[in-house]
Amino acid sequence: MICLGIESTAHTFGIGIVTDKGNVLANEKDTYTTEEGGIVPVKAVEHHMNCYDDIIRKALRKAKLKIEDIDIIAFSQSPGLGHTLRIGAMAARSLAAHYSKPLIGVNHCIAHLEIGNLTTGCKNPILLYASGANTQIIAYEAGKYRIFGETLDIGIGNFLDSFARELGLGFPGGPKIYELAKKGKTYIDLPYSVKGMDVSFGGLLTNLKQKLKSGKYSKEDLCFSAQETVFAMLLEVSERAIAHCGKKELLMGGGVACNRRLQQMAKDMCEARDAECFIPSDEFLIDNGAMIAWLGIIEYKAGNKTRIEESRVMPYERTDEVDVNWR
Ligand code: ATP
Ligand code: FE2
Repeated sequence: MICLGIESTAHTFGIGIVTDKGNVLANEKDTYTTEEGGIVPVKAVEHHMNCYDDIIRKALRKAKLKIEDIDIIAFSQSPGLGHTLRIGAMAARSLAAHYSKPLIGVNHCIAHLEIGNLTTGCKNPILLYASGANTQIIAYEAGKYRIFGETLDIGIGNFLDSFARELGLGFPGGPKIYELAKKGKTYIDLPYSVKGMDVSFGGLLTNLKQKLKSGKYSKEDLCFSAQETVFAMLLEVSERAIAHCGKKELLMGGGVACNRRLQQMAKDMCEARDAECFIPSDEFLIDNGAMIAWLGIIEYKAGNKTRIEESRVMPYERTDEVDVNWR
């Protein structure tokens, strides 16, 4: 069985082709970026409209398949930017209807988790899901992926991207902040905001903007200190979730988890408490079509299907609203 998965929750239009054995035959994508400023949803839509046909062809070529060879069409149905989600949904519906293939709409956050399970071999982890729009600590308990902690305001990636914008850097800002942070030498005290199992970044962002404007601190030191602070916050709640849930595995997911400093801090924390740290390769951390295709396979095997009339996108669906009937 072969599934073609379509990712379009935000900046990336991705197509993945995956078999039911978990072999990734293709994982092609194109990402909307800017030199300055953040994502403009209408521009992201234009980007996806311009590239989707080409990415589908590229993926099929890479997999050495024709569209007729595909058994299932999966797409990210939730959560994300309504504008861009609709492009993927439209492409999925037309392929499914035209070629008479079953359609499956999946939750993007859960796809990050399941591709992590597949590519790293972990079994029952605490997921530290750190991406642009989302920051959540997730684990499977009693039929659902439960959220044990999360951001109370913006996602960590949005925080990094917003600060990058203040620094005059374009989108995505996370990798650029990482490069500047490597040259930082002095840690500057910043507000550290963990409330119970939740985190927040808004106050810290305001504080950083003020410090930047004051001209008293170097950009490098500010980036270094910002990273150290927010990553420590994430790992504090991840560690507590591991302890409370009695788990032995930490899995990382989402684009911000590509950050090598965050990866190192996660490995150190796991080593200190005798847990195992699982980190997918960058290709599967950032938004990609393979994760959508893989969750499509899992859900299809569990008997899930999405009728065309039920395939409207759900920009605000939460991870813990999905019934997990495949574990
Ligand atoms: P979601 O819908 O899951 O929230 P997303 O649309 O934000 O996902 P991802 O590809 O999961 O997309 O994450 C993108 C974020 O990852 C951006 O905010 C980007 O700045 C950040 N990012 C990418 N690479 C790095 C890196 N090396 N270090 C830090 N941040 C990074
Ligand atoms: Fe994502």
